[in-house]
Amino acid sequence: MLKARVEEALNQQLNEELFSAYLYQAMSADFQRKNLPGFASWMSIQAQEEMAHARKFYKFILDRGGKVQLKAIAQPQAEWSSPSAAFAAGLTHERHISECIHNLYAVSEEERDYPTRVFLHWFIEEQVEEEATSEEWGEKVKRVENDPSGLFAVDKEAATRTFDLVLAFGPAA
Ligand code: FEO
Repeated sequence: MLKARVEEALNQQLNEELFSAYLYQAMSADFQRKNLPGFASWMSIQAQEEMAHARKFYKFILDRGGKVQLKAIAQPQAEWSSPSAAFAAGLTHERHISECIHNLYAVSEEERDYPTRVFLHWFIEEQVEEEATSEEWGEKVKRVENDPSGLFAVDKEAATRTFDLVLAFGPAA
């Protein structure tokens, strides 16, 4: 059984993950509108990953006998001044999410909630990768931003990113 404080913190993180999906989908729409379909696809896949993260929290709360609270999702920004500005905003956001996960871990420690601690290990590792990937792509995009043929090539490379929701996370709960 979940303690109220842990349940509230898990529901808050569920909302953060849903907002993350919203944010990356907004970036995808902005890229699509600016005729950068590879980056649009990359961001759309990122949004799907965030939905999978949200689903993990959703399922974990229910598996622990808790109550899922689907809170209102904040409205994300709709436009970014340049491709690198969008990727930089993604990195800033991932750093924020890492902080949220660490705070949640601290709550689970304080409440001696061992299943939540173990559950969060996956997210702690995932955030290291999320930050590294955001940083890598941000640098790559920045390098070619003022070179149309370079930007075209990196956009094409971004289009090769794939993600299979079911393979990665199993069937929907
Ligand atoms: Fe769900 Fe990008 O962290």
